Amino acid sequence: MKVAIFGAGTMGSGIAQVFAAKGHTALMYASSVASAQRHRDKLAASLNKKVARGKMEQAAADDIMSRVRVEEFEAAADADLVIECVAENMAVKKELLGRLDALCKEETIFASNTSSLSLTEMAQGLKHPLVGMHFFNPVPVMKLVEVIAGGNTPAELVEWTKNLSLEIGKTPVVVNEAPGFVVNKILVPYCNEGVCVLQEGVASAEDIDIAMQLGCNHPMGPLHLGDLIGWDVVLSIMDVLYNETHDSKYRANVLIRKMVRAGKLGIKSGEGFFSYNK
Ligand code: 3HC
Repeated sequence: MKVAIFGAGTMGSGIAQVFAAKGHTALMYASSVASAQRHRDKLAASLNKKVARGKMEQAAADDIMSRVRVEEFEAAADADLVIECVAENMAVKKELLGRLDALCKEETIFASNTSSLSLTEMAQGLKHPLVGMHFFNPVPVMKLVEVIAGGNTPAELVEWTKNLSLEIGKTPVVVNEAPGFVVNKILVPYCNEGVCVLQEGVASAEDIDIAMQLGCNHPMGPLHLGDLIGWDVVLSIMDVLYNETHDSKYRANVLIRKMVRAGKLGIKSGEGFFSYNK
């Protein structure tokens, strides 16, 4: 299958790796061909690191990268599947999907990796039906895919997406459209609450995370997890939850806004509530 992945950041690169590892051709798209090439190089470097640590065979890394390609926009015309993972912004996603709708063959399946937005609104005006295919970070490691049915997603497309998720080694759960779906509706307010606990001076960042790791057996605490997800992403999801419901329990802590404005986004920027070597 030819899969065109739009948005080559953390999620897009991981999705490309997963599809390529299962024998599919993965086209990586970013804001420009040069930028997509840089993301492809980064993916190759991360696989090479695995090889160097003895966690992956060189042949497997080469095999994956032989199927990850960077091409011009028009090459997506005959893709079997397009997955958009661009910025978590309705206008940006709709603009891209509109251009793809005009470009792609009738049979191309359209999927969105949105982490919180309405599939029904995103699909408005498209000839191609749209399904949610929500992956989790780090994509090669996390087993779940939330398969999201928007208001007009055909039942057969939901079924097809479930089967595809299984085929690429993931476990799908079918979710009806709701802001944040299942995981982010629970997990993102949890990260926000971690910041509230810090801001109230209850404990240090280190101790909040140790408490949740050792007290609940979570693999990482809420502040490290927000650093992994990216505080810009956490903030945009909190804002979607709040704007869709007007429920004050979804109000983003102002410290998160301040961190985002300061560019302290977490692991991807080198600094969040903790520091990371780039
Ligand atoms: N990309 C690829 N592989 C990665 C990775 C990455 N970014 N980070 C870790 N891994 C791999 C490692 O290579 C290793 O695999 P290996 O044994 O084959 O080498 C394996 O994961 C375990 O890694 P480590 O031993 O280095 O570290 P840990 O055991 O501490 O695990 C973790 C790291 C998997 C990130 C673990 O801490 C974890 O599960 N954390 C919670 C992650 C989580 O909750 N993600 C969901 C976020 S919400 C989301 O994504 C939704 C979005 O819409 C916001």
